Amino acid sequence: MIEEAKRGRYLVSTDRARLDVAAIWTYLSKSYWAEGRSRAQVEKSLRYSVCFGLYLGRAQVGFARVVTDYATTAYLCDVYVLPEHQGKGLGRWLVERVMASKALKGVKSWSLRTRDAHDLYRKFGFAEITDPERWMKR
Ligand SMILES: CC(C)(COP(=O)(O)OP(=O)(O)OC[C@H]1O[C@@H](n2cnc3c(N)ncnc32)[C@H](O)[C@@H]1OP(=O)(O)O)[C@@H](O)C(=O)NCCC(=O)NCCS
Repeated sequence: MIEEAKRGRYLVSTDRARLDVAAIWTYLSKSYWAEGRSRAQVEKSLRYSVCFGLYLGRAQVGFARVVTDYATTAYLCDVYVLPEHQGKGLGRWLVERVMASKALKGVKSWSLRTRDAHDLYRKFGFAEITDPERWMKR
């Protein structure tokens, strides 16, 4: 089921048909966390994730992706708003739409990584890990 919300001329949508893969790859491949990610990797990651596009008209101006089993766990990643659209509350709205998603309702555990946007996610109940000794990564 496609989920959509409008705010002025902006749209958040989970419709895969709207995704501009080239635009998403162009942004992500230069971002601090996904630098160098190939277009094939981006395409595959989108295919197996719940994707939230932020649009102005047909233009992809932001994005967020959730890796999930829809029941127990979800990982929020690849969140961005293009610089020329930042500072208008769109990033916050985008994350809000992700957290309000009907498809993801009831997911028990959410996680994410961020370099400096902690305060954005804090508004949605995210907090620093208090038991790092129980977490492992590779
Ligand atoms: C982070 C980002 C998505 C926020 O989008 P935005 O549209 O500029 O944000 P908003 O206008 O909705 O404001 C976000 C809120 O979070 C706060 N915030 C905290 N850390 C922030 C950060 N690193 N960047 C932007 N806002 C941040 C803002 O102060 C603001 O608070 P407010 O609502 O109380 O005013 C956007 O700045 C961006 O794409 N940054 C570059 C990519 C990035 O770092 N992505 C996050 C990876 S985890």
